Amino acid sequence: MPQLAYVDGRITALRDATVHVEDRGLQFADALYEVAAVMNGELLDWEPHLARLRRNCAAIFIDFPMTDAALTAQAKRLVAANGHKDALLYLQLSRGVAKRDHSFPSAPRASLIMTVRRFDFAQRIGQQKTGVGVITVNDMRWQRVDMKTTGLLANVLAKQDAKAAGAFEAWMVSADGIVREGGSTNAYIVKDGAIITHPLSAHILPGIARATLLRLARDAQMTVIERPFSLDEALAADEALLTSTTAPLLPVVRIDGRPVGSGTPGPVAGRLAALVWDEIARQTGWRR
Ligand code: PDD
Repeated sequence: MPQLAYVDGRITALRDATVHVEDRGLQFADALYEVAAVMNGELLDWEPHLARLRRNCAAIFIDFPMTDAALTAQAKRLVAANGHKDALLYLQLSRGVAKRDHSFPSAPRASLIMTVRRFDFAQRIGQQKTGVGVITVNDMRWQRVDMKTTGLLANVLAKQDAKAAGAFEAWMVSADGIVREGGSTNAYIVKDGAIITHPLSAHILPGIARATLLRLARDAQMTVIERPFSLDEALAADEALLTSTTAPLLPVVRIDGRPVGSGTPGPVAGRLAALVWDEIARQTGWRR
């Protein structure tokens, strides 16, 4: 079956799917995006993804008239048409097509594209057992990274550095030494049993997997502290972790080649991973 894409209301073969050269997403990164997991054929945490997209539309004044129900129906239609049980749904929403001019066009019509890629979530189980390494890079991004825009060049460069170093992720560190988040994941440390993560602010993306993790941890009476932590603290932590839609929970066992704690996945990561996989099973029926 050919891969299928959604472009402004039509589902076509991915290889035939195109956007206009004057799409503002292409010209200015004047666009938002979402990535949602499809597990066992079901969308995970779809409502929070939708809510984040709506919040971001309001924040950058993209008028997106499609109702939540219609968008959900189109997303599910594309997921079903692609037929993958385990996949990632990518959605990009731009301000639309207009003659190049920085300021908004007078009558913008938002354009929506969606693609679905098969994705092997089970690979995360093995990585969970060994843990992964991260490198650190300077956070070169703009000051509103809480909005999920397609302007990802700093993330692209950071992730390429990580790949070149054989690391899973690049942690972006502020000029004053605070670990913000990864190139495409949220970051955590564990100290004396407490899970510590950067508070929600303009400096991090409010990850959906982050929200789920913190809720599950609190429900399990674990201590969660939302405060900035420094790279020095991370290097002295007992454990470290990361989360995202594509990596629901992974222990971080090396930072810039230096071991975190024992240098192997710790008990808090193990407990959290069990909670996260249980929640995924509850929502989607997906089992490892
Ligand atoms: N990335 N921080 C950044 C910078 C991200 O790009 C992402 C998601 C996250 C985690 O957010 P969530 O839990 O909602 O996936 C944190 C997606 C997966 C991506 O760009 O591929």
